[in-house]
Amino acid sequence: MNAPLLQVALDNFTVAEALESTRILAPELDVIEVGTLLCLAAGAESIKTMRTLYPENLIVADLKIVDAGGELAGMAFERGADWVTVMCNAANATKAKAVEAAVKFGKEMQVELFGNWTFEQVESWKEIGLKQVIYHQSRDALNSGGSWGEANMKVVKQLADMGMEVSVTGGLTVDVIKLFKGIPVKCFIVGRNLRDAADPAKEARIYKAEIAKYWS
Ligand code: 5RP
Repeated sequence: MNAPLLQVALDNFTVAEALESTRILAPELDVIEVGTLLCLAAGAESIKTMRTLYPENLIVADLKIVDAGGELAGMAFERGADWVTVMCNAANATKAKAVEAAVKFGKEMQVELFGNWTFEQVESWKEIGLKQVIYHQSRDALNSGGSWGEANMKVVKQLADMGMEVSVTGGLTVDVIKLFKGIPVKCFIVGRNLRDAADPAKEARIYKAEIAKYWS
């Protein structure tokens, strides 16, 4: 089982602020996510900035696409994204168009699992050519008292057993990592707990060490 990758989510309001984080964090982790907030606040060119400055990292554009799949995914792939997100509740036609764009660029789409979705739908996404999902606890749900626990692990494991590559995100603390032991997680996606740490580089190394402890 491969060790999960570590991804930072840049949910900043300006590129300058995001670059303060990546200057410190990029060498410490695998994947840089141009977060939904940054994509909306600073525009698609922020994807190109990250691609240009960080050729060694995988770049994710967290566009959370719900329509115009081909156009939006194409916009991100043209600017150098490796992976682009589409919402689980987008029509399969939207997902199919986004996958078409991904194939054209030799890249991949990821389905964001928020709210209501079924394992039957996941099977239909596989038929479209989608291989990656992101199991996501929303920051708003977590702020209203949600937490990571056994029920979440069960769902993530079932997705992995179906052959999906599963990333996980949403208020992930270092302590949560060990709960996923034995599950082939693709990527742990961490935003605020890395960006806002007193020493972000040290914090990234702590996450990495925790991952190495359980996926050796
Ligand atoms: C919000 C997101 C975030 O980028 C992701 O959940 C990571 O953020 P945090 O660790 O700060 O919760 O996609 O929709």
